[in-house]
Amino acid sequence: MPGKVAKIGTFSDWVGLFNDWRKEIGVNTDDIEAFKFDTLYGAIETDDIEFGHYKGRRKWENLRQVPTQQMRDALMNMIVYQGDTEFASVEQQRNLLENAPTDWDRRAITRVMIEEMRHGWQMCALLIDHFGYSGKVEAQKMLERRAFENKRLLGAFNVDVDNWMDFFTYTDFVDRDGKFQLQMLKFSAFAPLGRSMSYMLREEAFHMGTGNDGLRRIVEAGIIPAWLIQKYLNKWISSSYDLFGTDHSSSAHWAYVWGIKGRYDEPKNDKAADLDDLNDYNRNLYRDEVAGLIERFNSSLKPGEPKLYAPNIKFNRFIGRWANQQFHAQTGEPLDGHAYEEHLKEYMPTVADKKLLLEIIETEKKWIAEKAGARDPLATIGEVRKSAINI
Ligand SMILES: [Fe+2]
Ligand SMILES: [Fe+2]
Repeated sequence: MPGKVAKIGTFSDWVGLFNDWRKEIGVNTDDIEAFKFDTLYGAIETDDIEFGHYKGRRKWENLRQVPTQQMRDALMNMIVYQGDTEFASVEQQRNLLENAPTDWDRRAITRVMIEEMRHGWQMCALLIDHFGYSGKVEAQKMLERRAFENKRLLGAFNVDVDNWMDFFTYTDFVDRDGKFQLQMLKFSAFAPLGRSMSYMLREEAFHMGTGNDGLRRIVEAGIIPAWLIQKYLNKWISSSYDLFGTDHSSSAHWAYVWGIKGRYDEPKNDKAADLDDLNDYNRNLYRDEVAGLIERFNSSLKPGEPKLYAPNIKFNRFIGRWANQQFHAQTGEPLDGHAYEEHLKEYMPTVADKKLLLEIIETEKKWIAEKAGARDPLATIGEVRKSAINI
């Protein structure tokens, strides 16, 4: 936003805005209020640039060492997009704190929210510490956009997450996209970004675990029919495919050449990268991981229930080569206009489906199996800190 004036001079000014934001969106419960937020870094495997044009040179510790302004801009842009998703997810989930299915789940979502806020905090700390005046403006804008006003930067982060089926599907699959993005940035030539990601990935594991185990508990309870669960898988997994970005993306191409963002399997992959198809390469790795997880749910399904699956990579896409076309959710076959309209009603949650879901959640106390033998998420939240290298 040209001409935007920064209200903040220092990071502690930004913390003041962050405290106001928490109160404004209504997530400042006692547990969250009591949490001490910090900027935390984890270890990275190597101080040498791992891929791209500068491979083998020392990673950059500050912006002066980054060779060109274009590269600095690309880095800042990635940090802004990452941070935006973190605050957005808290805004999306803000109404779920009061109606958690069990006390364990309430404490789990509290922890997820705390950690997402800390991720947003971490990105803003990078912006303010390294990116001068424009970094301060961006860190401020990060707390001015709102998911529920449709202002967050990526589509999936403006959608409501207003029931617990959404929450578990979201944390299993949208947070898993998050894991992929963090891992790709962990290999970054900009070392403070890589170290941030290294630590954040440890926190992220809890979110995906909560989601995956929540879905397993739902499948195991056997109250919500599999066809309805499948619709929620279709909704969130198809939008996660989009989060990997366009095909033939030139920004992904340059981010790789410049050493800013690697492939998800970068250190293990000794083949030369196809620079023209990086986003789709990573998207397919994501799809494989998701398909494997869903296959495991199938062993807990009641007999006679249809098997769950990851939607076809072409289904319900709005970004990339399959965008705005009409394909079958399971088989990927092309469908014509009328057939597709009917298909969407059968394969995506409708207003009536949501009503049914909410009725089940309200009236069937056992719609989700108990969380057996798990430790208190808020008692264990501090354990990750032992891996921080800066405290
Ligand atoms: Fe996060
Ligand atoms: Fe997360």
